Amino acid sequence: MARIFSGIQPSGELHIGNYLGAVKNWVELQEKHECFICVVDYHAITQSYDIAAFEGRTHDMALGLMAAGIDPTRCVLFVQSHVAHHTELAWIFNTVTPIGELERMTQFKDKSRRQESILAGLLNYPVLQAADVLLYKADLVPVGEDQVQHVELMREIVRKWNARYSEGFFPEPQALVGSGKRIKGLDGQAKMSKSLDNAIGILDEPDEIWKRLRPAPTDPARVKRTDPGTPEKCNLYDLHQQFSSLPVVEDVAEKCRTAGWGCIDCKRVLADNMAEAFAPMRARAAELRAAPELVRDALAAGAGKARRVAEETMTGVRAHMGLMPAKSIASVT
Ligand code: TYM
Repeated sequence: MARIFSGIQPSGELHIGNYLGAVKNWVELQEKHECFICVVDYHAITQSYDIAAFEGRTHDMALGLMAAGIDPTRCVLFVQSHVAHHTELAWIFNTVTPIGELERMTQFKDKSRRQESILAGLLNYPVLQAADVLLYKADLVPVGEDQVQHVELMREIVRKWNARYSEGFFPEPQALVGSGKRIKGLDGQAKMSKSLDNAIGILDEPDEIWKRLRPAPTDPARVKRTDPGTPEKCNLYDLHQQFSSLPVVEDVAEKCRTAGWGCIDCKRVLADNMAEAFAPMRARAAELRAAPELVRDALAAGAGKARRVAEETMTGVRAHMGLMPAKSIASVT
């Protein structure tokens, strides 16, 4: 049994991209492995965010994960800021991480281009990510393709820390990338993401799914209904492969190639299949919204379990680094 760690920011929503790229994998992995799934609020504050809405978003992300099938009785589901050890280990890892490595991270380069002044938190984002995973000595990190570089950096940080303080103390985690490793947004260009407004939420109602899917671009060769297309050039064909059965996918390809139907007909089938695939999740989300204490209690229990593992790791880390152990108040008096 491997130990798995992964995280998701509460700044976004659960959409088809992060669901197919990561969360779906987590749901499967929790059956056979020891999983730690974390809502990473300290990562989300490295970009501007709505303070008043933040607590609600954090709760909603946990609710979405539970609705999507993350079972807090099988895995440890918690909020990053509830376990203070994450920032403690991040500080320590900062002392062995070369700035040059952080500066060459693609995500840092992309995000810093969009910011007026570059803040240290954005640069050090992958260091906190390394701390998240290593606090639990996780071996596997199921993520989308965009996070693979961060996992590589994690391995580098482990090698540096282990070499200096204790060989073999931390494992070198491996990224686990599934079949939905890079789901494109509805624009057919960029990666699907909430901030680019090109996403379909997994909890969206069927009419909302249709509203978003309807105007999505398809194969540019299909200008008129009678123009044949190439399914492989159409982003929606990729999505059909995720949501439609094999016979339907074959039928979709055939009708596209022969101009047997219009793109709007193709989208209608896709929208219906998506809505159907997520129907049980929408139902479960409605139940959880009616009983928010179920989410809060699950997160409290998760933080408790996570803290115990984290404290054990940090006790070892502090000892190997020669940090003076704190005396308990009881033994001082
Ligand atoms: P975040 O919140 O941006 O994304 C969460 C997960 O979803 C994947 N993902 C996608 N996969 C395929 N196609 C897409 N369009 C798509 N959009 C998102 C991401 O690759 C990610 O796996 N830095 C992480 C959060 C994090 C973390 C960690 C992950 C913090 N600490 C420790 C693993 C281990 C992030 O940006 O997540």
